[in-house]
Amino acid sequence: MARLKTAVLISGRGSNLQALAASCAVPGFPAEITLVISNQPKAAGLGHATRAGIPAKIVPHRDYETREEFEAAIDKILRGAGIELVCLAGFMRVLTSHFVDSWRGKLVNIHPSLLPDFPGLDTHRRALEAHKRFAGCSVHFVSAEIDAGPLIVQAKVPVLPDDDEPKLAARVLEAEHKAYPLALRLIAERRVRLKGDKVEIDGKPGPFMLPPAR
Ligand code: GRF
Repeated sequence: MARLKTAVLISGRGSNLQALAASCAVPGFPAEITLVISNQPKAAGLGHATRAGIPAKIVPHRDYETREEFEAAIDKILRGAGIELVCLAGFMRVLTSHFVDSWRGKLVNIHPSLLPDFPGLDTHRRALEAHKRFAGCSVHFVSAEIDAGPLIVQAKVPVLPDDDEPKLAARVLEAEHKAYPLALRLIAERRVRLKGDKVEIDGKPGPFMLPPAR
C-alpha cells in the first residue's frame, strides 16, 4: 500500500519532527514525511528536515496581514504537495476554524499533558502544582477549540517526588517521541476512525493508552 503522505508543521526545536522522521525512515513504516513547514525562519527543527532530506518551506506569519492569508498560503503548499495528513509538532500559531474544518480528520497535534487535563501552556508546572501522580502527552485530532479534539494516543509517565519542571518535561518529551510515531502508524494503517467527536481504533473506543515505560 502507498505510504501516507505526511507534512509536519513546526515553529521551534523540532524534536517531535525528528522522532517522526526517524520512524518514517524505518523500512516498512506506512507513512512518509514529504514536507516540513515552519513559520519561524530560524526554527532549529529546519536543520532536522535538511539532514533527513525532507523538503522544507518557510512561511513566516509576519509576511501576512491576516491569519486567513497566512493559512491560505500554507493550505496551498499542502494541497499542491498532495499531503494527506498534517502533523502539528510545536507549531505555535492558532489555526482558524475554517482551516481546521477543511482539514478535519487529517490534522493532528501533540500536546504535553494528559488531556483533558491542562490544555494551553505551562502544562508541567500545572501538573506539579496539582500534585498529579501521572503526567504525559496526548496526540489528538485538531478541532476549533484549542487542545480539545478527539484523542488518538496518550502516553503516561509518573511524576516523581523530586521532579521540577525541566525533569518532568524531559520525561514527558521522551513519551511524546513514542506516542507521536505510534499515532502516525495507526492512522497510516487506517486503523483510526473519527466518528463524530470520538475516535475508534481497530473498532474500539480510543484513545490508545501507552503505559509508563519500565
Ligand atoms: C512539545 O512538547 C509538544 O507537545 C508541544 O510543543 C513541544 C514541541 O517540541 N506542542 P518539539 O519542537 O517537537 O521539540
